[in-house]
Amino acid sequence: PRAIWLSRHGESMYNVSGQIGGNADLSPQGWAYAKKLPQIVADSVGPGELTVWTSTLNRTQQTASNLPFKKLQWKALDELDAGACDGLTYQQIAEDFPEDFKARDDDKYEYRYPGGESYRDVVIRLEPIIMELEKNENILIVTHQAVLRCIYAYFMNIPQEQSPWMDIPLHTLIKLEPRAFGTMVEKIKANI
Ligand code: G3H
Repeated sequence: PRAIWLSRHGESMYNVSGQIGGNADLSPQGWAYAKKLPQIVADSVGPGELTVWTSTLNRTQQTASNLPFKKLQWKALDELDAGACDGLTYQQIAEDFPEDFKARDDDKYEYRYPGGESYRDVVIRLEPIIMELEKNENILIVTHQAVLRCIYAYFMNIPQEQSPWMDIPLHTLIKLEPRAFGTMVEKIKANI
């Protein structure tokens, strides 16, 4: 593809309370990003058409809700499943699941939440997404931090084991341009 655009969902109510997982709505700040996103996208993409891919979760659909383009939902773009830890804060996980907290710290890529997923699991379920992306032009993906870390590492040719540490800031549109010599990156931060 000529270029791919990526964005995390706007700040959610769970981001505000420090909880992971769930299916929270956007916070007021998140809605402010959703409102600004069409202009930011238009400035970066130009006059062309775009297809927007979201996850099945409220926060990505709300973030994309003002974009005047065709939208497609993918279950494969849902956030890393935190299983038994879904809805908890990191502090609660450290208190209630101390061994898991340590295991994740020791090997964040391989660690799988009880009844949930690891980063490796996410990389594997993203394979069809990557294949579709390679075939298509002008896609904007609005999804979640862990998922974007894996997609970003793939296009940046960074070993997948490093995905858990990729920096994918909130309220920022990322433009990736894959080229023969490597992928060019532009990060456009929303002014909110
Ligand atoms: O719950 C998923 C988060 O977006 C990923 O954050 O893998 O750094 O805990 P983490």
